[in-house]
Amino acid sequence: MADRPVLLFDSGIGGLTVLREARVLMPDRRFVYVADDAAFPYGAWEEPALNDHILKLFARLLDRYQPEISVIACNTASTLVIESLREAFPHHPFVGTVPAIKPAAERTRSGLVSVLATPGTVKRQYTRDLIHQWATKCHVRLVASDRLASLAETYMREGFVDENAVRDEITPCFIEREGARTDIVVLACTHYPFLANRMRKTAPWPVDWLDPAEAIARRALSLLAPLPVEPGINTPDLAVFTSGKADFSTRRLMQGFGLNVAR
Ligand code: DGL
Repeated sequence: MADRPVLLFDSGIGGLTVLREARVLMPDRRFVYVADDAAFPYGAWEEPALNDHILKLFARLLDRYQPEISVIACNTASTLVIESLREAFPHHPFVGTVPAIKPAAERTRSGLVSVLATPGTVKRQYTRDLIHQWATKCHVRLVASDRLASLAETYMREGFVDENAVRDEITPCFIEREGARTDIVVLACTHYPFLANRMRKTAPWPVDWLDPAEAIARRALSLLAPLPVEPGINTPDLAVFTSGKADFSTRRLMQGFGLNVAR
C-alpha cells in the first residue's frame, strides 16, 4: 500500500499547480504526474471523442502505475469524464477538479463573478449545472479562452509570455454594471495559476483570483489511507508524457518540480 503512488493527470503542465499543493500536504507520498500532451489542448476536443480517449488512456494508466488514488487535475477533463471514470473503474477513487463556482458565489460582495476556462469547460453541462445549483443569487459570466493554456505552457518552458495576449484573454472577465464591478475571477483551468502574476498586472482593477489547487489536494489527502510508520522504498516521483517526446525544456521544467521523466 505504502508505495502505491498518487496519480495526477492533466492534458499538459497545468496539473503541476495541484502537485505543488499536494506535495506540501503529503510530503511522504509518491507521485506520478501524467501529461496527455499528445492530445493537448483538451479545450478544443469534441466531447464524445475526448470521453472515449480518456477512458481508454486510464485503463492503461491504472494498470501500469497501480495508483492508490487518481486526481484529475484538469477542469476540461473532469467536467466531462469524472462520472464515466467512476463508473468504469468503481474500485478506484478519483478526485475531480471542477470550476470553483460555489466558493466564488459565497465570497463575492459585488455579486459579479467571472469564470475563466477553456472553451470545453465553458460549454459543459456540468459547468452550467454548477451555476444553477450554487450561484443563482449572483451574475456569473463564463469566459472561454482559446489561448491561455498554451500561453502558460510556453511561459513555464521558455520563461516568456506576451502580456498583451494575457490582457486580451482576461479582459472579458471584467464587467461593470449599476455601479458594481466583478470582484472574483475563478481560474477554472489548472494552467492559469501559473499566469496569475501576469493577470494581476494586466487586469483593469484588482479582483480575487480563485485557484482551487489547495482544496483539491486537501480532498485527495482526505481519501488516502494513512501511511504505515516504516518508510517505503524511496522510488522517485515520475512524469509521464503520452507523446513520449519530452524536449529539453520540458525535462528541465519537470526536474524543477522534482519529477523524473519516464522513458
Ligand atoms: N489544464 C486544463 C484544465 O484545467 C486544460 C488545458 C487544455 O487542455 O485545454 O482545464
